Amino acid sequence: MTTMFVQKTHALRVEGLIKTFDVSAPWLNRLVERKPRRYLQAVSDISFEVPLGGCLSLVGESGCGKSTVARLVTGLYSANSGKMQFASGPDGKPLSAQMIFQDPYASLNPRWRVKNIIAEPIRELKLRKSAAEVNERVVELLKTVGLSASDGEKFPHEFSGGQRQRISIARALASEPRFLVCDEPTSALDVSVQAQVLNLMRRLQDEFGLTYLFISHDMSVVRHMSDRIAVMYLGRIVEEGDTEELFARPRHPYTRLLLQTIPNIEKPHRDRVVAGGEVPSPLKPPSGCPFHPRCPSATARCSAELPQVRTLASGTRVACHLVQED
Ligand SMILES: Nc1ncnc2c1ncn2[C@@H]1O[C@H](COP(=O)(O)OP(=O)(O)O)[C@@H](O)[C@H]1O
Ligand code: SF4
Ligand SMILES: [Mg+2]
Repeated sequence: MTTMFVQKTHALRVEGLIKTFDVSAPWLNRLVERKPRRYLQAVSDISFEVPLGGCLSLVGESGCGKSTVARLVTGLYSANSGKMQFASGPDGKPLSAQMIFQDPYASLNPRWRVKNIIAEPIRELKLRKSAAEVNERVVELLKTVGLSASDGEKFPHEFSGGQRQRISIARALASEPRFLVCDEPTSALDVSVQAQVLNLMRRLQDEFGLTYLFISHDMSVVRHMSDRIAVMYLGRIVEEGDTEELFARPRHPYTRLLLQTIPNIEKPHRDRVVAGGEVPSPLKPPSGCPFHPRCPSATARCSAELPQVRTLASGTRVACHLVQED
């Protein structure tokens, strides 16, 4: 894999990214049971651009490869192949991506006071000189995310889920990042708390000119966060386009299916399970179009031939044999 640095307009440009996991049984079992090695392709030839100062969201059901992309972008995994080009920031240094995780409790050290959790990146990166300056910065960050100076004296377990996510946001901001990768940051929260944290994240984006790669399985969440949305299915992007355009004119049958499952305020108790059966295992992906076993429009061609990604006049990219220009 090559990682390069480019100027302007895009914070990150990703091309042909592939990530395969070796999920073979231990070698002795393979030897005794005469089993071959097994590989799981979690991310299959993905390309996208994250606009500088904007938000691209990745959306799709569980297991479609969203977190793997997040881990590739933040350097926690290395890709089998593909290119990642980060733009350089105003200081001339390449942007690096900071991660905000779904479960704020697991990512906060339970034995540390909140002020030390937030101070750690400041000290590590030597962003402030004296202890007094570090403290001052910690209080500033607590206030930025809607907490108070006295909250710094407490431990993570003394906070609610929403407050803990505010703490992890403060900690992420402590390293003064320009690019945040947010992997289902509000999925563990109640709907009302979710909205508060999402509003906070939008405000911070404006205030600090942040770039987001935002990840969610929920179309209603990404709608209000994103400039562009990439819909993923079984490790591939099946549709990617401008948020308004994607909601007004969803082109891919899977995008349409996802939009049908958005919770309806008038029918709040409607079953939200996505229709058309289960997502197939990435260990045995279907032939042709990976969506064909669930697709209401599938034809014989669909089980034989993988649809290539095409760019429509609207700027939407879509991978489906049936989609035509209007
Ligand atoms: N470290 C890993 N080892 C083996 N398989 C993995 C690993 N991480 C993810 N996978 C598999 O890759 C696929 C995509 O997973 P993931 O990226 O977590 O999807 P999502 O975040 O969209 O739910 C899943 O089938 C998952 O089981
Ligand atoms: S290529 Fe065929 S199976 Fe795949 S989404 Fe389009 S119509 Fe459905
Ligand atoms: Mg995930």
